[in-house]
Amino acid sequence: MTAIAIPPSIASRPSAQWLSKPKQLLINNQWVDPQGGETFDVFNPATGEVIAQVAAGEAADIDKAVKAARRAFEDGPWKKMTPSERGKIVWRIGELIDQHCDELAELETLDNGKPLAVAKVADVPLAGDIFRYMAGYATKLEGNTIPISVLYAPDSQFHAFTLREPVGVVGQIIPWNFPLLMAAWKLAPALACGCTVVLKPAEQTPLSAMRLGELALEAGLPEGVLNIVTGLGETAGAALASHNDVDKVAFTGSTEVGKMIVNAATGNLKKVTLELGGKSPNVIFKDADLNTAIPGAASAIFFNHGQCCCAGSRLYVEKEIFDEVASGIAEEAKKITVGDGFDENTVMGPLVSQEQFDRVTKYMDIGLNSGAKALCGGSANEAAKDGGYYVNPTILVDTHEQMQVVQEEIFGPVVTAMSFTDPEEIVARSNDSIYGLAAGVWTADISRAHRLAKAIKAGTVWVNCYNVFDSAMPFGGYKQSGWGREMGHEVLNNYLQTKSVCIGL
Ligand code: NAI
Ligand code: MG
Repeated sequence: MTAIAIPPSIASRPSAQWLSKPKQLLINNQWVDPQGGETFDVFNPATGEVIAQVAAGEAADIDKAVKAARRAFEDGPWKKMTPSERGKIVWRIGELIDQHCDELAELETLDNGKPLAVAKVADVPLAGDIFRYMAGYATKLEGNTIPISVLYAPDSQFHAFTLREPVGVVGQIIPWNFPLLMAAWKLAPALACGCTVVLKPAEQTPLSAMRLGELALEAGLPEGVLNIVTGLGETAGAALASHNDVDKVAFTGSTEVGKMIVNAATGNLKKVTLELGGKSPNVIFKDADLNTAIPGAASAIFFNHGQCCCAGSRLYVEKEIFDEVASGIAEEAKKITVGDGFDENTVMGPLVSQEQFDRVTKYMDIGLNSGAKALCGGSANEAAKDGGYYVNPTILVDTHEQMQVVQEEIFGPVVTAMSFTDPEEIVARSNDSIYGLAAGVWTADISRAHRLAKAIKAGTVWVNCYNVFDSAMPFGGYKQSGWGREMGHEVLNNYLQTKSVCIGL
């Protein structure tokens, strides 16, 4: 593979030199060309320019990476390493992420479009944090001793205990909305548990994962423990999901592809965990503190340009305060400066890709054509005329549950706002979705807050806050939003299996 010319618009960026180097596959601790010699283009969403050409791994490369991961799992130093040594390496990856914060944040902005300031305070520090949080678990993967009775052998004695063992070779397929953070959420627990990994980043945003691969080697990961195969979903991703020597696949992305992953996994019945789409209800009662609820509801949908699986995209507001809240959120939306993520004034950058731009603007049209009104936004941003994928933050009113825009995930800065009168009906309306990822409730009534937190079918319920994430708090979906949990000690279940040992005494 050869280097490409960096467009003049980013030539002065600190990462320009790194960007100009060939972007290969990481297999068995070597950066290698894909066997088919193909590449795919990576775009700067702020301009539409090509900023890198990245190795397009295919089935043969996935197979080579899986073989390296298998050798590393069965025979390598990783297996023999003490938990303390393993934890130290995982911790060191977190430290290296922190040390390279500026550089990684710049790659996120170039690749995904998000504002640099956001990448610096959220994406990169959270990625470092999950490695440090998970590093501590490497030494705490304990089983139990179990007092068994064995009814049919009352005169015998046994010593029974459980071992918590790594599940093996893990395939991880991640999306483009938080490229580095999604890699970190997946890798940190898998490595802490002693698994070996083949990671397939999203084709829209492979850069920060590749830089993370370099840092992971610097941290001391032995050969073959982490392999990174960039490539397209239909080729590299599909080959990883269906590979018969992969013990487990962990996927984050669309519900549609999640179902394909489940089908692809049937060959060897590999374990599957899924973190999928959402259409999260955000419910504001008239007793709520509107000084926090209004900006909170705005940020619930506009943060990361609405490209969050848990975005608060279905807003329900008690009727008496509907106009005040809707116009308050519209005011917040008008304060949002849309522009290049490197511009200090930018609050909202471009969407990630032409495909997402087309998809989100199409949904705006579908909403408007089916009777919804745009209280603000409702179209592409004028900055899009120069080639970037910019859209306006949008509030759709006059919407109802039968509309496509209320049922389907848009994955852009588009909220559908609806009113309610009966606080009892709101649980049913909140749960009227195939998804169950997250929900928001804004109220001063603590009993109601608890009642709703229990009644809403979602993996996370935020009360008087939204989009609060922490490495210690599990995250994942009810219903068609997924299987299993990320983060917290719960994620260890994704990467461990339990062995019962019973010794006759
Ligand atoms: P996607 O689900 O196609 O892509 C996510 C990952 O899956 C990428 O790494 C992709 O290469 C891979 N992939 C795609 N097809 C595959 C296949 N057949 N086998 C294995 N891996 C495959 O999502 P896409 O197309 O980028 O976005 C479409 C919609 O999906 C978005 O508009 C949004 O609604 C939803 N989405 C949800 C995300 C979440 O965090 N839950 C993240 C990204 C997208
Ligand atoms: Mg897709």
